[in-house]
Amino acid sequence: MNTSWQLLTEEIKNCDKCRLCERRTNTVPGEGNPNADIMFIGEGPGRDEDLQGRPFVGASGQLLDRMIHALGMERTEVYICNVVKCRPPGNRNPEPDEAEACKGYLRQQFVLVRPKIIVLLGKVAMRYVLQEEAPISRMRGSWVVRKGVWFMPTYHPSALLRDSSLKRDAWEDFKAVKQKLEEIKNDSGT
Ligand code: URA
Ligand code: SF4
Repeated sequence: MNTSWQLLTEEIKNCDKCRLCERRTNTVPGEGNPNADIMFIGEGPGRDEDLQGRPFVGASGQLLDRMIHALGMERTEVYICNVVKCRPPGNRNPEPDEAEACKGYLRQQFVLVRPKIIVLLGKVAMRYVLQEEAPISRMRGSWVVRKGVWFMPTYHPSALLRDSSLKRDAWEDFKAVKQKLEEIKNDSGT
């Protein structure tokens, strides 16, 4: 980790900018390849993540890992993080003021990684990142381009675990991501 990452991790670890600091066990800043082409953003740490200090390590994380494998990639090649870095009690959704308080960290992660593609996992991530209020079922599967970055909203893995009929659409979204990744690689001649 270089200095910017160390400073960011340290700042998050000491953060008390919102009430989520009160009941966390560990902060969950994010992890992965600091030069990743692709970044995954979830909503916030759950129980397993809070205990381990790592994003997406519980049941949804295992499904996310399988989906990353389907892209022909390893978890270590991508960057994975969340809208809020501390666990909302009882896994409730982050409140708007909590997401707002935490936004600067996500922005710094974006600036450091400079991903070409961002996969938004679920409606909470989509709403906070794109300020988009439409249902995820309507937004998923279509690219949103903002300032040259490709955003793909898709279902959160925990939604897929609750309702396996959504998996078919999610795989379609991941196929589109894989294709875009290849296009981007070909364009840049790498
Ligand atoms: N759900 C999320 O949104 N993020 C995690 O890190 C784990 C579960
Ligand atoms: Fe700070 Fe974000 Fe944790 Fe709130 S959720 S205390 S803003 S790191």
